[in-house]
Amino acid sequence: MASTFSLLSPSYNAISLQSHNYHRPAPFKLLRRLLAIGPNRKYYPNTFDDNGIEKFQQIHCQATRDGKHQHQDLKGETGNYEGESKVKIVEPKFKMSLAELLHESKVVPLSVYGDLEVEITGIQQDSTEVKAGDLFVCCVGSRSYGRLYLSEAHRRGAVAFIASKGTEIEDTLGSKALVIVEDANSVLPSLAAAFYGYPSKNMTVIAITGTNGKTTTTYLIKGLYEARGVRIGLLGTIAYYIHGDNKLELESPLTTPDAAAVQNLMAKMLHNGAEAVVMEASSHGLTLGRCSQVDFNIAVFTNFTRDHLDFHGTMDEYKKAKAKLFQRMVDPERHRKVVNIDDPNAHFFIAQGNPEVPLVSFAIDNKNADVHAPEFELSLSGTWILVNTPSGVLEISSSLLGRHNIYNILATVAVGIAVGAPLEDIGRGIEKVEAVPGRCEVIDEGQPFGVIVDYAHTPDAVSSLLDFVRELAPKRIITVIGCGGDRDQEKRPIMAKISTDKSEVTILTSDNPRNEDPLDILDDMLAGVEWTMQDYLKHGENDYHPPLPNGHQFYVHPNRRVAIRKAIAMGEEGDMIVIAGKGHETYIIRGDEKELFDDREECRDALKYVDELRYAKQE
Ligand SMILES: Nc1ncnc2c1ncn2[C@@H]1O[C@H](COP(=O)(O)OP(=O)(O)OP(=O)(O)O)[C@@H](O)[C@H]1O
Ligand SMILES: [Mg+2]
Repeated sequence: MASTFSLLSPSYNAISLQSHNYHRPAPFKLLRRLLAIGPNRKYYPNTFDDNGIEKFQQIHCQATRDGKHQHQDLKGETGNYEGESKVKIVEPKFKMSLAELLHESKVVPLSVYGDLEVEITGIQQDSTEVKAGDLFVCCVGSRSYGRLYLSEAHRRGAVAFIASKGTEIEDTLGSKALVIVEDANSVLPSLAAAFYGYPSKNMTVIAITGTNGKTTTTYLIKGLYEARGVRIGLLGTIAYYIHGDNKLELESPLTTPDAAAVQNLMAKMLHNGAEAVVMEASSHGLTLGRCSQVDFNIAVFTNFTRDHLDFHGTMDEYKKAKAKLFQRMVDPERHRKVVNIDDPNAHFFIAQGNPEVPLVSFAIDNKNADVHAPEFELSLSGTWILVNTPSGVLEISSSLLGRHNIYNILATVAVGIAVGAPLEDIGRGIEKVEAVPGRCEVIDEGQPFGVIVDYAHTPDAVSSLLDFVRELAPKRIITVIGCGGDRDQEKRPIMAKISTDKSEVTILTSDNPRNEDPLDILDDMLAGVEWTMQDYLKHGENDYHPPLPNGHQFYVHPNRRVAIRKAIAMGEEGDMIVIAGKGHETYIIRGDEKELFDDREECRDALKYVDELRYAKQE
């Protein structure tokens, strides 16, 4: 591979940790001369047959039309559509009778009760969110629970109800409009799409599937469209944006919201002038049909590795769930596939849907990719990439860190190529994204060692993260890592093994224990290093623990705060401390309760008192 890494000396903190501004390291200058690249980002257009692109633009994608997008003002309340200012978001109003909705959505009832002419003003599948005037669609697995949810929705003011056959219904609902269908879960997407006016048909919808990198890539694609002057909404793990900076204040949104929320949010985006939406199509979301009525245009595949086997059972089922997105790519004029062909599963995804649908592939290793990075440099202060594309060569300097983020950047370039965006806009849009919360976030309080907080919570993500950190040539890597409760148990020992193989010191700790005992989760992780909790406890929590056969050390601290403090207290000049697993999250989930907890704040706090912590450690 033709990459050159800027290897950081143990005293790199002086240059890189004091400032997050991206400094182009010296080797860039040489590379620049060799490639005759000027001081600013340059691109070299070549001849690329863009007939297909023109057609795609004409048929669907307003986001890619030539010239600056002329935005329609909404009562003069628009802001800067490059996403830099807040504007007042206008709440759209919807109204339809239940009879009209059944007709429009083509839902066939098994039986109906009450007045179908009742007017509904919203659709909800979550009984706790029901407002007066809503239609409540009772989508529970267990029929008896349905009864409870229906009563709650009724109390909150629902005016009409849809439930599956066999659901227990309270007598008090008797006078209301009630529709019984074969399976309420399966009709919800059609009802919601019809009620909110099929918003996705009037926007370009870019959906990203894959085990890792979805959230990061959505942020980059948002940057790309905004650089084209296009309003774009975003639905993903960290937040939902109507467009620009207009984020909905939600504590922990679902990566892919439920079908009613997906349609409602898209309708809101459209009403507020968005012309595109980028979303994470999670395997849960795809399996549960949350986006089954979303009119996707571009499907992006990032990678496929182990995760979520608690939900899908086998890797094969997990892959099939992800494939559902690509199966929807059937129209060569309206659809595009964007695929990482370094991933061994690429061909499986490419083969889904219609083979005639244009594909834009991307890769670092596979030189045959349409979008390929022959050269790149990684450092703790940023990433430089040279990208070959069918439209020419593009040079990108991004403040996102790590080799894995090169893939996310290439995926974004490939989307830009798929929609015919000029290289200059693609580069500008990507460079504009300075950080994605909790993704390789550098915590800098002026300490002489590096601290990174990252959301890596799959074996592959932990492995790529630690490989990147190793490339920075730290003196030691000290990793704090845990695994979530009520989720895939088999990944626990694998993650512990990866961490102890790739870090000089590992501190195993709790993530979100949910309804499991944190010690049981740690026991599962310990199996990865052929220990048990009993073996471990024999040595006492703060005693010397014999190193692993590879000479690496590990400790166990179920309390995440203690684990983070211990790691920070160990930090010495030239070390890199990695806090993995929770990234942007601002809470720990114990049982059904959320307690405030933010790895980034914990690190900052610990760094303020690092001397005291060290002193305490020695005592
Ligand atoms: N392209 C990639 N390849 C491998 N690992 C990645 C990639 N992008 C990000 N990661 C790692 O995965 C973690 C999660 O990244 P991100 O949130 O973008 O992924 P995601 O697919 O949205 O995850 P989730 O399914 O949990 O929402 C990052 O913190 C990083 O460690
Ligand atoms: Mg995500």
